[in-house]
Amino acid sequence: MNEEIILSAAEMVREKLKDEGSGHDWFHIERVWKNAIKIGQSEKVDMFVVQLAALMHDLADDKVVSSEEDGISEINYWLEGEGVPSAVTEKVLMIIQNISYKGGNGQNLESLEAKVVQDADRLDAIGAIGIARAFTYAGSKGQPIFDPRYEVREEMTKEEYRNGKTSTIHHFYEKLLKLKNLMNTETAIKMAQERHQFMEQYLEEFFKEYMLEEDE
Ligand code: ADP
Ligand code: NI
Repeated sequence: MNEEIILSAAEMVREKLKDEGSGHDWFHIERVWKNAIKIGQSEKVDMFVVQLAALMHDLADDKVVSSEEDGISEINYWLEGEGVPSAVTEKVLMIIQNISYKGGNGQNLESLEAKVVQDADRLDAIGAIGIARAFTYAGSKGQPIFDPRYEVREEMTKEEYRNGKTSTIHHFYEKLLKLKNLMNTETAIKMAQERHQFMEQYLEEFFKEYMLEEDE
């Protein structure tokens, strides 16, 4: 029964996000779903809640829907239609509203299920895949690869984060390199190490190529 609802959720999300072009497409969701299952296996969590939240976690993001409110009510309506108990729906909606890097802004999440989904989503923002997603997102916004005129600022307000003058290489310092230390679960902490190292290596190489003239 739960298995059927999960597969039906996956199908619904796949249809909705199949043409999404800013790095929040179905394949991001599928990776987060897989990460969440892997991480959840070592935690005492309700895997039904974890899987539904992982699958639907970007459906209330205003990059994907017109408003967070509309997104949330649509999810609510969909879950109700599938006969998901309201206690489960409440947990899923709470997770979706709280895990975003911007929304959550480092605040502690209450449920272990939320922590698992947040870790799963954050893992997809780092490493080789994270690098690819950052440049995809940037391309969709017309943001430069690197602009040495901008300052690297580690603390940004939500508005600055959204609209601020930045470049994708700056985004690594603003967010991506911080994620390793923000993981909640042991499994994700371990998985983040290699991905983090790969980003550091990537940046090193990037600046090596960028500074070419000075080396000569
Ligand atoms: P979340 O959904 O966790 O709140 P975002 O929606 O901000 O995170 O980011 C989704 C993806 O887009 C991530 O992989 C993130 O690194 C990337 N991204 C967000 N903002 C930028 C930016 N200014 N430059 C490059 N990539 C970005
Ligand atoms: Ni996501």
